[in-house]
Amino acid sequence: MMKTTTTHDRTLPCSALLVCILLLSACGGRTAPVTSQTEREPIVGLPCEGCDAVFEGMPETLGWQTRIAAAGEGQAMRIEGVVRDGTGSVVPGVIVYAYHTDANGLYPRDEGARGTSAYRHGRLRGWAQTGPQGEYRFDTIRPGGYPGTEEPEHVHLHVIEPGRCTYYIDDVLFEDDPRLTEGKRAQLVRGRGGNGVTSPVRDREGTWIVARDILLGEKIPGYPPR
Ligand SMILES: [Fe+2]
Repeated sequence: MMKTTTTHDRTLPCSALLVCILLLSACGGRTAPVTSQTEREPIVGLPCEGCDAVFEGMPETLGWQTRIAAAGEGQAMRIEGVVRDGTGSVVPGVIVYAYHTDANGLYPRDEGARGTSAYRHGRLRGWAQTGPQGEYRFDTIRPGGYPGTEEPEHVHLHVIEPGRCTYYIDDVLFEDDPRLTEGKRAQLVRGRGGNGVTSPVRDREGTWIVARDILLGEKIPGYPPR
């Protein structure tokens, strides 16, 4: 899915939408501002709207698992997977960034939040850094679909390879989502970072378990060889 066509902006308040329009105008919708961190981790796989926002608010210390939404905020969901390189080897130390809508399909932001991420990504966002076996996990809630649209439920994912590059990969999508029609699959799924279409199952506690493995650099234009 091209970030130029992500639809979450449609659900933002008018004021936020105006800011987004101004931002798009400023960068032509093709490139992202260069910051000290994007110099260290250049954005590849352009166009990539919002890729610079992955650094906003990122904690200095990260674990392989993190919580995004409080357990009581919606249907509990766990996204977990393993990050591998092109040879199939697991890769520790890779940062996976996720953000998604709340149970109502909106991107709410924290009071007083500033920066691109506050407008574009909302408050339900988090980072995990892969462990020794390339593993990562997000504990959160299942996102709602955008109200009044036919867009499938989804979780946005980005990868930050420290000291190398950053890029977005295919959203997490859900096989059991009635909005995920064949037409939508053909339109949205591109295989960036591997397959984003998942098969959710519920564990004994009712938590949705979603497996999303990541293949570094897969179908990412301009990806530097490892
Ligand atoms: Fe979205």
